[in-house]
Amino acid sequence: MLVHSASQLLTLAGGAQRGKDLGRLGIIENGAVMICGEKIAAVGRTEDLLMRFPNEERLDACGKVVMPGLIDPHTHLVWAGDRAAEFEMRLQGKTYMEIMAAGGGIASTMRATRQATVEELLAQTRARARKMFRYGTTTAEAKTGYGLELQSELTQLGVLLRLDAEGPLELVPTFLPAHAIPPEYAEREDEYTRLICDIMLPAAVEFWHNRGLNQPLPFIDVFCEKGAFSLEQTRSIMAAAKRLGFPLKVHVDEFENLGGAALAVEMGAVSIDHVVRTSREEILKLGGSQTVAVSLPCTPFGLAQPEYTPAREIIAADGYLAVATDINPGTAWCENMQFVIALACRYLKLTPAQAVAAATVNAAKAIRKEDSLGSLEEGKQADLLILSVSDYRHLGYRFGGNLVETVIKKGSVVKE
Ligand code: NIG
Ligand code: FE
Repeated sequence: MLVHSASQLLTLAGGAQRGKDLGRLGIIENGAVMICGEKIAAVGRTEDLLMRFPNEERLDACGKVVMPGLIDPHTHLVWAGDRAAEFEMRLQGKTYMEIMAAGGGIASTMRATRQATVEELLAQTRARARKMFRYGTTTAEAKTGYGLELQSELTQLGVLLRLDAEGPLELVPTFLPAHAIPPEYAEREDEYTRLICDIMLPAAVEFWHNRGLNQPLPFIDVFCEKGAFSLEQTRSIMAAAKRLGFPLKVHVDEFENLGGAALAVEMGAVSIDHVVRTSREEILKLGGSQTVAVSLPCTPFGLAQPEYTPAREIIAADGYLAVATDINPGTAWCENMQFVIALACRYLKLTPAQAVAAATVNAAKAIRKEDSLGSLEEGKQADLLILSVSDYRHLGYRFGGNLVETVIKKGSVVKE
C-alpha cells in the first residue's frame, strides 16, 4: 500500500535525538510511504514513489500530516478500580504521600487488583489500551506493580502478554513488584526487598521461559522514593535484576531526591523516569550516558504540583529526553499522548517538534525499540498516523482532543 500526498511526512529519520539535536523531524513535503506487509519499503516524495510503485493499492493522505505512531514509554496500564475519592481528598488538602502513608494510594489499588478476576482485569485494561490506540499510541510500555505478591504480579504480567497478543496496541512489559511495600511487609521493607531479589525476580525469569517467549526479558523497574524503596534497596534490586539479565528502568526524583538518578545511570539503566527533583550534577551525568530521561508531565499536572522535569537543562546537558503518560489511577489517568505533547510544550518548554521527537523516536529508545519503531524509514515497522491537520504544530498547540484520523499498525489500517 502506498500512502501518499502528505502535506508533511514526519520521518524522524536518523535515530534517537540527544541534546540540541532534539526536534529534527526530517520533514518531507508532499511525502509518501510505501508499505509492504508489516514494514516500510520506501519513503520519499509523492511524485517519486508514484512513479516507482505505479500499481500498488493507494491511500490518499489528502494534504494532511503523516507521522510515526506515538510511543508511550511509561504506563501502569493494568489495574482494577479507581481512586476518585483520593483525588477529592487531595483537593481538600491531603498530599499524595500522606494518603499513601495512611494505607491508601498504591496499596488501595493493590487491594482492588488482587481481588479482581483475570477477566475483570483484562476488560478494564483492554478499555484503556483501546482508547490509547485511538489517540494514536501504537506501542506502549506497561508495568505490573499493583499485585505486590508473586502470583498477583505474574497474573498482571500474563494480562499484559495476552493484550499484546490481541493487539492492536503493542505492549512492552515491565515487571514492577518494587512499586510499593505491601501492607503485610510494613516495617519489614528489607525483607520484602529480599523477597523481590531472591524469589520474585527468578520466578519471573522462569515464567518467561515456561511461556516459551523468545522476546527479550521484560524490564525491571523500582520506585526509588521516600516511603517506597530507599537508595540501598533500589541498588540491591537493580543488581539482582542485572545478574539475571533483565534490562532496567527506575522511577526517580518524583517527590524527593534520594540519589536514584546517579545510581541508575551508573548501573546502565535504559531509562530513568519522572526526573523532577534531579540535581544539576546528576543531569550532567545523564548527559554523557545512553540512559533516556522519561518525563511524565501528566503527573505534576494531575497532582496540581508546580514542579516539572527540568527538560531544558537535560537538553542543554546533551541528554536523551522522552515523554510518556504514566497512566495510573493515582496521579495521572490519561490515555492521550497528544495531551502529553501539549503539556510538554507548556511546562517542559519544548517546541512542538521537540515534543513530537520525544514522543516517537526517543520514546522508542526508552523501551529499547529504536531499531524497529519510532521513525518512518525503510525496514522499520509500518506504524503510522494520518492526522486531521496539515501542520504538525497543531500537536501541542491544541489540547484535550484527538487529531488522529487514521492509525496504521504493522501495515494495516485499523478500523474500530
Ligand atoms: O508513577 N510513582 C509511582 N507510581 C505512579 C503512581 C502510582 C499510583 O499512585 O497508583 C507514578 O506516579
Ligand atoms: Fe510511574
